[in-house]
Amino acid sequence: MFNKKSIYLDNAATTSVDKEVVNAMIPYFSEKFGNASSQHLIGQEAKRALEESRDIIAKSIGAKREEIIFTGSGTESNNFVLKGLFFANKNNNKNHIITTKIEHDCILNTCKWLETQGAKVTFLNVDSEGFVNPEDVRKAITPETLIVSVIHGNNEIGTIQDLKEIGKICREKGVYFHTDACQSYTKTYIDVDKQNLDFVTLNAHKIHGPKGVGVLFIRKDIKLIPLLHGGGHESGLRSSTENIPGIVGFAKAVKIAKDSNIKYMERLRDKLIESILKIQNTQLNGPKGEKRLCNNINVCFNNIEGEAIGGFLDSYGISSSTGSACSSHSLQPSHVLKAIGRTHVQINSSLRLSISKLNTKEEIDYVLEILNKIVDKLRKMSPIK
Ligand SMILES: Cc1ncc(COP(=O)(O)O)c(C=O)c1O
Repeated sequence: MFNKKSIYLDNAATTSVDKEVVNAMIPYFSEKFGNASSQHLIGQEAKRALEESRDIIAKSIGAKREEIIFTGSGTESNNFVLKGLFFANKNNNKNHIITTKIEHDCILNTCKWLETQGAKVTFLNVDSEGFVNPEDVRKAITPETLIVSVIHGNNEIGTIQDLKEIGKICREKGVYFHTDACQSYTKTYIDVDKQNLDFVTLNAHKIHGPKGVGVLFIRKDIKLIPLLHGGGHESGLRSSTENIPGIVGFAKAVKIAKDSNIKYMERLRDKLIESILKIQNTQLNGPKGEKRLCNNINVCFNNIEGEAIGGFLDSYGISSSTGSACSSHSLQPSHVLKAIGRTHVQINSSLRLSISKLNTKEEIDYVLEILNKIVDKLRKMSPIK
């Protein structure tokens, strides 16, 4: 019955922009088009929208409005915090960065680039479900350590880290703590004080907001060297005329996010996981239950290619992914699945389904029916039994 309809299960890559978000943005392209730096009425209207949006986002993570800097993406925020802090501390004998092996490429590649600039980077291991052991963070900290950066909710396997515990250790040791919360924002609790966070990366397009808008929370009085120099926007930290429609859309997406959506997605997620695991020779990648992002399903279908399953699903109008769409430019096997101990063959057999508040129970039933058929067919074709 859904053959003609598309069922989108790749919401970890990006989400559709909510109609309410689109409607909130539209006036800022047309009659309210002003530059927030202009002194006239049209400019000041844009400035008001900018500051109201900042308030909404600050409040949602327990931050102060002046601690929120708008950027052009999650990638930019992650680059900014690591490069900006590293260069601000270049002469302080603080050149050590601690991160994990399961970060998004924009953290990993920034760290690798910073190594060429004199940084020393420790890439921590994770356990078989993707959890960082806070004690490993403690052990890795040296007098040279500047910052610890740990992804909150993993984009591939959904593991949610214990930020509070890691943050406590960072506080005790006097090192900064950053989290990339692009996947977890509005899907699980974030509070910058309770979780001892100094920096948080957020973006809009994973939460039914527009692409090309990000935020960096910077705890008051911490100095960063800007990536972009220019007219001094965003307290001198991110020069560039502010993307008011995008920022207004981001704030609207935050405003309409509801806890009931989390519960709803958890129910769909668990139905998918439980039903898929009934298929012979399957294994869940990542944890079960409350320490998993409410929208993430990642399963290894042993002996068949994840790419083949994805291709067949696509022919039925079902969009899925075999890892991080953000890094599917590279044909490298997933570094996240490798870090949790999956073999090369298991990595190639894995498939990610990521749901949103917009998916229905009927869609999930249909996906399960099709998935069973596809796996059955591919298993029959497979030379390995
Ligand atoms: C965990 C995580 N961090 C960062 C990014 C990059 O964000 P953006 O696409 O806004 O640059 C993504 C997704 O693409 C992500 O999943």
